[in-house]
Amino acid sequence: MSPHLAHEVRALRTIVWRGQCELDVASAARSLAAGDLVAFPTETVYGLGADARSASAVRAIFAAKGRPSDNPLIVHVASLHSLTRFGFAGRLPLPAQKLARTFWPGPLTLVLPLASADALAPGVTAGLSTVGVRVPRHPVAAALLAAADVPVAAPSANRSGRPSPTSAAHVLADLDGRVAGLLDAGESAPIAVGLESTVVDATREDRLTVLRPGAVSRRQLEDAAGVPVVEGSGRVSVRQTPPAPGMKYRHYAPVAPLRVVPRGEVRREVDLECSRGSVGVLADSALCAELQGEPGVVVVPCGVRGDPSSSARELYAALRAFDGEGVAAGMQSEPVRVIIAAALDESDDGIAAAFMNRLRKAASGGDLPAS
Ligand code: TXA
Ligand code: MG
Repeated sequence: MSPHLAHEVRALRTIVWRGQCELDVASAARSLAAGDLVAFPTETVYGLGADARSASAVRAIFAAKGRPSDNPLIVHVASLHSLTRFGFAGRLPLPAQKLARTFWPGPLTLVLPLASADALAPGVTAGLSTVGVRVPRHPVAAALLAAADVPVAAPSANRSGRPSPTSAAHVLADLDGRVAGLLDAGESAPIAVGLESTVVDATREDRLTVLRPGAVSRRQLEDAAGVPVVEGSGRVSVRQTPPAPGMKYRHYAPVAPLRVVPRGEVRREVDLECSRGSVGVLADSALCAELQGEPGVVVVPCGVRGDPSSSARELYAALRAFDGEGVAAGMQSEPVRVIIAAALDESDDGIAAAFMNRLRKAASGGDLPAS
């Protein structure tokens, strides 16, 4: 980013609107339709929205986030009907139609054939012949999209290289002063999922490819679409073009190195590490309660044992806490030398598998091209 641009994005003051207030949602929608950047809650994570047809608004997303320009954005629309009306996606292949009918609104992004490159700002698709589309379920996102009546390009509302935001406080920590406004979900409509949507390549009639695991599992996709579902989010060789361009970028990792171990081995690992300095523990609340108070141990509870959805919801806040965020919310902020994280049983290939995918990325620091 040029120093001039950096100055420009900081010159703004971010307005915080209340997601529950109709007038505030209308103000946010007007701002969005006028070409401003507006962060808003979805059921997965907060998104940083801009009118997907405005080249300058879309450029501003990349500038505010510090995001590489060859990583395409997901376009958010209010319904399948409005997707058809906007006309930027081609005719949906049959499996895509079935998925849209089953999972929209919801935490599923469909990569679809792009009908016309002119219908969207060039930065949205990064030169691909496909476009990622999602109809979010969160009531505030739904109200905003309906009121703005524009296709909304929105990556997660974090600075590039930071964890996705799951609260308005996270968005402000990363983007205050860099975006026009933020719609706060507030207490009454919290984020339900907490991890980014499942991204599926649905451009073919005969099969689907999962590009990023999320709350909608491979088995659910197969059941709904009636075609084979292959996993495309495995490791990609550095020379190969990754199917989801975002997969090749360095992923967020906390400042302290993070190691994932089976739950039953956390205590032993902590005992071993404690002799060398302070140790962070990221685990369910019961295990954290057992370890809390031991000398040199800093616990950050993440969900309830046996409820992987609760762990998924709290993962990004827990990772941010280890980097010193969330002091006001009473979350731990002492620096630690190493973090020991408890693995979840991921055999269900749903939310627990998505949680483990993100945890492993945080552990590898994104040095691996993908996974
Ligand atoms: O839950 C979510 O998906 C959130 C909320 C805000 O909707 N959004 C989100 O966006 O996570 P972002 O930009 O952080 O991640 C989008 C991912 C990237 O890995 C990108 O490469 C991939 O989707 N993607 C977008 N368009 C694509 C396309 N046409 N083909 C393949 N991958 C695509
Ligand atoms: Mg992101």
